[in-house]
Amino acid sequence: MNKSLRKAVIAGNWKMNKTPAEAAALINEMKPLVADADCDVVLCVPYVDIPAALEAAKGSNIKIGAENVHFKASGAYTGEISAEMLTALGVEYVVIGHSERRQYFGETDQTVNLRSLAALNAGLKAIICVGETLEQRELGYTETLLKYQTKMALTNVTAEQLKNVIIAYEPVWAIGTGVTATDDQANEGNKYVRDAIAEAYGADVAETVTVQYGGSMNAKNAEGLLSKEHVDGGLIGGASLKAADFSVIVKAASK
Ligand code: 13P
Repeated sequence: MNKSLRKAVIAGNWKMNKTPAEAAALINEMKPLVADADCDVVLCVPYVDIPAALEAAKGSNIKIGAENVHFKASGAYTGEISAEMLTALGVEYVVIGHSERRQYFGETDQTVNLRSLAALNAGLKAIICVGETLEQRELGYTETLLKYQTKMALTNVTAEQLKNVIIAYEPVWAIGTGVTATDDQANEGNKYVRDAIAEAYGADVAETVTVQYGGSMNAKNAEGLLSKEHVDGGLIGGASLKAADFSVIVKAASK
């Protein structure tokens, strides 16, 4: 992390976990544990949990996000949720392009870009996920792929809008597997992302963008990962479902 240049952000991604009542209980448990954080703290929760999560987080330093957003403002898109619907509730962040959506729900670099533009145009902060599969890594495509995904996601995003963008480098092989990237692998992936932003917007701008690492980040390995220059925070899956573990990660980012 380099806090003099950019914001440290620890975000939980709850995925398809927790009912509204369980969400409120977990946030109430987390609130006192993260109250002194010297980083931004975000919880991205299932759509149906959002009202309960916002209510539970009221008056605290925890911000609430969604896990996806549709790219159209309204219309005949059964089952979808627009950016305006999220901002109307008071949501501030949204995860876009998570590898699980790319893998299971037909998400492409183009739809990631459209969702990002819709979110940013509505005033949301976008946490855009990129990452290589193990096969792509072994073939030597990691740098090419991360740069391509990053640039595709940011097509037509203005430098002004980029201030509301966080990129999360999430190697697919490290998600939910218990296999974490080494501190150096995480730093290298995050640097490729920053290099891509520098190629598109200039080096000075790229230095100001928060780039998170995600993939089996936990209470034990967070400090090492976050000690790296280009790791400005984390996008946390499993460990964000446990108040004690999540708060240890927040504390590591607060140093
Ligand atoms: P895990 O922390 O469970 O590996 O999940 C990471 C992730 O996908 C966050 O978006």
